[in-house]
Amino acid sequence: MPAPNYFARNFDTTPTPTPMEQVQDNRNIATSEEPYCNPRLDPKNYLEGPLSDNAATRLRQMLARPGIIVAPGICDGISARCALEAGFDCLYQSGAATTASRMGQPDLAIATLNDFVEAGNMVASLDPRVPVIADADTGFGGPANVARTVRQYARAGIAGLHIEDQVQTKRCGHLMGKQVVSREEFITRIRAAVLARDEIPGGSDFVIIGRTDSAQVLGMEEAVTRLKLAAAAGADVCFIEGVKSKELLESTVAALAPKPVLVNVISGGLTPSFTSWEAEQMGAKIIIFSLVSCVAMVHGVRTAMKSLKETGTDFSTAKGMDPKAFFEVMGLKDVMTLDAKAGGTAFSQVFAPPFFPPTSSSTSHTEMSNSGVSLSGKEVAKHNSRQSCWIIVHGKAYDVTEFLDDHPGGSKIILKYAGKDATQEYDPIHPPDAITNNLPPEKHLGPVDPDTVEKVEVKITDEEKARQQRMSARPSLDEILNLHDFEAIARQVMPEKAWAYYSSAADDEITIRENHAAYHRIWFRPRILRNVTKVDWSTTILGHHSSMPLYITATALGKLGHPDGELNLTRAAAKHGVIQMIPTLASCSFDEIMDAAQPGQVQFFQLYVNKDRNITKRIVQHAEKRGIKGLFITVDAPQLGRREKDMRMKFEAEDPSEVSKAGSEGVDRSQGAARAISSFIDPGLEWADIDWFKSITKMPLILKGVQCWEDALMAYDAGLAGVVLSNHGGRQLDFARSGIEVLVEVVAKLGEKRGLKFPNEKFQLFVDGGVRRATDVLKAVALGATAVGVGRPFLYAFSSYGPEGVDKALQILHDEFEMNLRLLGAPTIKDVVPDMVDASSISSHGSAVPGDRLYDSNYESMQHARLRDATVKL
Ligand SMILES: Cc1cc2nc3c(=O)[nH]c(=O)nc-3n(C[C@H](O)[C@H](O)[C@H](O)COP(=O)(O)O)c2cc1C
Repeated sequence: MPAPNYFARNFDTTPTPTPMEQVQDNRNIATSEEPYCNPRLDPKNYLEGPLSDNAATRLRQMLARPGIIVAPGICDGISARCALEAGFDCLYQSGAATTASRMGQPDLAIATLNDFVEAGNMVASLDPRVPVIADADTGFGGPANVARTVRQYARAGIAGLHIEDQVQTKRCGHLMGKQVVSREEFITRIRAAVLARDEIPGGSDFVIIGRTDSAQVLGMEEAVTRLKLAAAAGADVCFIEGVKSKELLESTVAALAPKPVLVNVISGGLTPSFTSWEAEQMGAKIIIFSLVSCVAMVHGVRTAMKSLKETGTDFSTAKGMDPKAFFEVMGLKDVMTLDAKAGGTAFSQVFAPPFFPPTSSSTSHTEMSNSGVSLSGKEVAKHNSRQSCWIIVHGKAYDVTEFLDDHPGGSKIILKYAGKDATQEYDPIHPPDAITNNLPPEKHLGPVDPDTVEKVEVKITDEEKARQQRMSARPSLDEILNLHDFEAIARQVMPEKAWAYYSSAADDEITIRENHAAYHRIWFRPRILRNVTKVDWSTTILGHHSSMPLYITATALGKLGHPDGELNLTRAAAKHGVIQMIPTLASCSFDEIMDAAQPGQVQFFQLYVNKDRNITKRIVQHAEKRGIKGLFITVDAPQLGRREKDMRMKFEAEDPSEVSKAGSEGVDRSQGAARAISSFIDPGLEWADIDWFKSITKMPLILKGVQCWEDALMAYDAGLAGVVLSNHGGRQLDFARSGIEVLVEVVAKLGEKRGLKFPNEKFQLFVDGGVRRATDVLKAVALGATAVGVGRPFLYAFSSYGPEGVDKALQILHDEFEMNLRLLGAPTIKDVVPDMVDASSISSHGSAVPGDRLYDSNYESMQHARLRDATVKL
């Protein structure tokens, strides 16, 4: 039986045309006014019943039912496997990424139909029930071309594809100046696709998506008209490329309703980075993230290759993934099961673990992991209490019972995952090796059979959704004028816990405010009529060039604010030629950060000294081997200060029962989130240890956290390379003086006692705390500092705007330096001399200065203890 003609309403019973006749037919159809109508494909028919095992039917069911369809872009077997592993129930085969992956070239439409179909067929076969939507990058051209594309994709098991209106010799979709065909030609393509689908014997549910690229070149109005015509010609879904705003997406959805709309989000592309939740709220039905895998691949593979080249090993980038673990992600278990069912023996060796699980509870864990026998998820699930708490991270089980009270984020979050897979919660905050480094080997219980582990669903809270909405309402970076602005935005868009950790300081938070206020007691004495046509604010720090007298100081737990954590700083530092100090307690692993650096990029390392000096020695020597140019030993934190904002957040995150129970057992909770990450720090560190440091490294040694001239003098006499006059951003001893105040007395006293002049090449003075403007830096430089450390502003910059935020923050500082050097009458940094400032009031803590409105309005006052139940009335 020939396929009925759904364009004609009166179903056609003429014989099936020959291919040549078909072309002729399509031309006639292209001019037909009759809208397409196929009662069988009415969305109402797909509302009820279980989800089908046929991927195309399932895609129609998903389209007809509530909820947005989220389809991550994949380009090969590995990316498809990872998407399925993450739990996605629809995949998008990206044209550009598939071309790149198969041909090693960008998307210029040179891959053939067979290339695409073969790739799509392989992906669709991994889990044949999961719909794969394809970018039919050969779905342009004449109707015959389009029809053949549809037939071949449908046969290959693909659930749907999009047909677009770009010209056959299209430019890469991501280059500007796309060219599109006429409306008529576009609609001819859609009709050809629909006809080809309807002629598939037995009736196919294959989904045809009409895509227009015309918005960019012909405007939104034309784009919407084209999609309306495509819908009338039988397209099941409308795909609008290049919607530049929320409003445009919403109006497109309204104009095309009830046709479902697909939106394409590419980080950094024309469409803003809507989350899937935001897109759903705007009415989109499908959201694709076309380049998610190929971009991640470039980052991951690049890092691994660079690291292998530099270190001669792939140990750190493997992150513990052995060959078996890799094959397991790629479906080894299915292959083994099939082999066994068929009576094969090829995998009997590897197969042993799942088939012969440990039967005796007396089997030692070490035995288990050593023998390669996996634990079962059920066994791990039994250890789900405070008395015995096991968790799974990256496929391996750990006994964390004794670590519960030491965990920086509190025990509740671990107990929530007791007996379960905690990887999703763990990954964003911790360096990959944190768990293996912090737990003794006997607590490493070995691999867990992934098939037996129950998936943990991570729920997005309303609070988190609201935060993401605030995130999407951020002003553009152009509107950010100074470093205070980043703080103001960060405060509104950061997760509460992260904000509390970054912004908190010790006790009554007097010192944190004094750090900034102290700069208000220094005034300039500018000089005039000096040729400042050209000004140069670059300098050298410990002998290394820096584009400004400023470095990014060490701040722990970067991933609390942004998934890329400290890497945001590494990248921006490279771009702007400034030095980054890597913290011991970074969220990214040390090697990850070093691997992300550009060749020749200078980095320092901040060291917390471990009670176990062998660990310290290993860390220091590894840092030196990887090219670190200065070791900053933190000396102001034998115990971490009380950061009450942070502690308050922690108590609120804990079960009240847990808090009181732990309290009665004498667990010290007095130091909030900061406590456990610091419990390894040695309070016994003393001056006598300095010689030991000199014996284990040739890196210049600097003490970070010196707070009076007596200690600065001892550091000089001990032959160190310098000191950072710092009170740890006000996070340690409250009422410690500001670094800038200490600088004035250190310069005076070291001059008096040892005849030193500053800035000094041999013994360099650094200051940090409260620096928010280039004028602050210039005041410190005038008073003798070689350079100044800046901490929180960069954290706030990446927490609110990612890497571009840090880039912008550094650019703002460059601009401020340029202007201020001119206004000071100082062509270079060497011309910024003590006579240019009046610091006579620096140590007078009572002197009044005008309030700093930007800073003060960002400062969030501390809170008193709150009643737990908000409904209790006074
Ligand atoms: C969130 C945060 C984490 C920090 N972590 C460390 C650390 O791990 N080690 C360290 O020596 N200093 C640490 N510091 C102190 C900074 O190195 C620096 O002394 C301080 O941030 C400077 O003040 P500013 O933030 O006002 O610029 C941290 C500061 C903040 C705000």
